[in-house]
Amino acid sequence: MTAPHPTSSQIPGLRSVRIAGTGSYLPEKVLTNNDLEKMVETSDEWITTRTGIKERRIAAEGELTSHLAAKAGLKALEMAALDPADIDMLIVSTITPDTITPATACHVQSQIGATRAVAFDVSAACSGFLFAMEVAKNAIATGAVRNALIIGAEKLSAFVNWTDRNTCVLFGDGAGAAVLLPSENGEGRVLSCHLGSDGRQAELLHIPGGGAACPITMDNADRHLATLTMQGREVFKHAVNAMRRAAETAIQGAGLQTTDIQLVIPHQANLRIIEAISERLGLASENVFVNLDKYGNTSAAAIAIAMDEANRSGAMKSGDNVLLMAFGAGLTWASAVIRW
Ligand code: ACO
Repeated sequence: MTAPHPTSSQIPGLRSVRIAGTGSYLPEKVLTNNDLEKMVETSDEWITTRTGIKERRIAAEGELTSHLAAKAGLKALEMAALDPADIDMLIVSTITPDTITPATACHVQSQIGATRAVAFDVSAACSGFLFAMEVAKNAIATGAVRNALIIGAEKLSAFVNWTDRNTCVLFGDGAGAAVLLPSENGEGRVLSCHLGSDGRQAELLHIPGGGAACPITMDNADRHLATLTMQGREVFKHAVNAMRRAAETAIQGAGLQTTDIQLVIPHQANLRIIEAISERLGLASENVFVNLDKYGNTSAAAIAIAMDEANRSGAMKSGDNVLLMAFGAGLTWASAVIRW
């Protein structure tokens, strides 16, 4: 993972872009570690000490990724005082789409009445919300669109092998969203954004079946091939190194030092990963936002949900420099600095 990747910051001549609204939605059903003890050979103690997760949310049967996304998106639009019919661009980041085609963003477009928007999905797993943010930011910065609604949404419970204790204890369902608008040095400005990928490590974390490479057939249907498979220990090491480097790149891209960062919103996969990165970057734990104890790893939704909670709870204050950093399947990684 040594190849250089671009960092976008304030390029002269381009409009700067701000986050004008945030929203999130979590399904009602709570699945606790104690509930999981009855399903696989695990314990609350193992899950808590290895990951920090205590419980996660599970979507109802028939409640799809697009439904979670639409609810989160409408809340972000309400905060931004924007009508769905006024949205120019609607991006959903997900690895758990309702259908392979059309894109989940098209289902969301139909549900919320975003009739003018160009709607499409991005697939970058846990880094996906920041990938969507960078695409939308650049489209607004160049004047191609006036605004964008970006959503990270996942129904991971539909792609988890509930008999595999290595993975089923880690994931949850949920959605988070943000509205992006042009800004003239206002609040919520995106100061820098950095994205990266390393496809050579694809098999460390993937869903092997269900695509053209491995269709699900009568012969393999019992092998759980359309579920998440992960080499946890390897992914852990890559996650710490890639997110730390990505964080440093975004901070430099914003023209700041680590000491200028007031709040960090990391991808919510594992508390030990977050602590390892914070230690290496010299970040105080009270400046790092954590909610994975309540929701587990919601992949593309995680940063978006955390950002909305930090915004609505007042943890993210006007004028704060906020660092976002993510890592996920692909492998992919992403980081951004926002002046809130
Ligand atoms: N309950 C009890 N024991 C378990 C469980 C469980 N749920 N799961 C695994 N174990 C056992 C293993 O079998 C192993 O036993 P063994 O030593 O007898 O073989 C032992 O616990 C230790 O297993 P490790 O895999 O070494 O545990 P580790 O400390 O690495 O923690 C974890 C595993 C939590 C998965 C960690 O590696 C991790 O968080 N990895 C990164 C996850 C991540 O960041 N993913 C990226 C984003 S996800 C996305 O993009 C969709």
